[in-house]
Amino acid sequence: MKKIGMGIIGPGFVATHHIDAVRRLGNVEVLAVAGSTQESADAKARELRIDRAYETYQDLIDDPEIQVVHNTTPNYLHYAISMAAIAAGKHVISDKPLAMNSAEGRLLLDAASEAGVAHVVTFNYRGNPLIQHARSMVAGGELGPLCFVHGHYLQDWMTSPSVYSWRSDPKKGGSSSALTDIGSHWCDLAEHVVGSRIKAVLADLTTVVPVRYSAGKSAEAFTKGDHKISAEVHVESEDLASVLIRFENGAKGSFSVGQVLPGNKNNIQLEISGRESSLRWQQERQNELWIGYHDQPNRVMAKDPAFVSDGARRYVHLPGGHQEAWSDAFFNVIRDAYEWISAGAGPEAKPDALATFADGYRAHCLIDAMIASHAEGGRWTEVESHSARAATASLQTK
Ligand SMILES: NC(=O)c1ccc[n+]([C@@H]2O[C@H](COP(=O)([O-])OP(=O)(O)OC[C@H]3O[C@@H](n4cnc5c(N)ncnc54)[C@H](O)[C@@H]3O)[C@@H](O)[C@H]2O)c1
Repeated sequence: MKKIGMGIIGPGFVATHHIDAVRRLGNVEVLAVAGSTQESADAKARELRIDRAYETYQDLIDDPEIQVVHNTTPNYLHYAISMAAIAAGKHVISDKPLAMNSAEGRLLLDAASEAGVAHVVTFNYRGNPLIQHARSMVAGGELGPLCFVHGHYLQDWMTSPSVYSWRSDPKKGGSSSALTDIGSHWCDLAEHVVGSRIKAVLADLTTVVPVRYSAGKSAEAFTKGDHKISAEVHVESEDLASVLIRFENGAKGSFSVGQVLPGNKNNIQLEISGRESSLRWQQERQNELWIGYHDQPNRVMAKDPAFVSDGARRYVHLPGGHQEAWSDAFFNVIRDAYEWISAGAGPEAKPDALATFADGYRAHCLIDAMIASHAEGGRWTEVESHSARAATASLQTK
């Protein structure tokens, strides 16, 4: 059987996990890598055992054997690279965020839809079996009418001022930092599980560490910082944010994100309460789903293929008691992406749980509304109307 050829552009922290997941599939070949220079591409190709190393992303896109392009570059490069891949008729798997803002996201969504290529955003927490089980429970009405959705996504790897990532530079990360970087994951997960959209937001953004010290190159995510301090950088984008939210289905809620909160490693949590019961899922205890009641004892459901919903079972790889982890959920998303590609990438063939550029665009609309809400002193801001205004204004200036 001829394998599907893929190439990866941007061989940093998350690229390794894309490659691991693709290699686990078996029917996809990692053909090439492109980095910021020929030297960096060569070094990564050696380290990751990839045959072809390209100096520029366009060279990789032009390789006729590459059918699928994975875009794992810093945010400011997402638009140009994904657009070039779509123009060449390649399927695109972009890491989040889709682009720098909703206007760019909309253009990418339209271009990919028109080209008929698969367009995927790796909102990887959707790939957790107990997330899919929770989603089935909500959709099946087991919680009763929903009233409250809350949670957080908290990390600590940017606590030290000597950690300076491209994420803190608005030209490279976008005008928002923590909300775009990890808030996008939380919002996508919440809307995916709740099955309803956030219609309005009220946001409060804070920069806890306004001065950072750059060692001349971007710190890789989750590293502890380089102490060979060379330059002071003033940071304006947020590293902490709290947001009140209202869903279209009437539920209310809130979430916080922060990347400077000591002790929090990859602490994403989602809790949903209905009138009958509540659910809570924590990424750092991802093999458990807490189910709470007011009239009977609470319980903790352990991930087990025998007990999850039919829709969730395909995301479980091991029997009960065998712990699955972050990279298994990531693999599930990549497997869905390649199943879509193998099935022709038509809209009807898309696996239900797979996030596309439509979801990437949606996350930008939410974050644009949060930034606008904060800029106006913490005002309730409608998501759709705001994003429509922002996208139209930006498209008119292009
Ligand atoms: N899904 C997730 O859970 C997750 C986790 C981490 C990062 N991400 C996303 O993945 C993307 C990359 O993040 P990261 O933490 O891996 O960043 P990183 O800085 O570790 O890696 C980025 C890579 O892109 C390379 N690069 C820079 N310019 C380039 C160019 N012109 N052509 C090709 N390569 C170039 C850099 O040299 C580096 O190797 C970001 O958009 C981020 O939001 C997603």
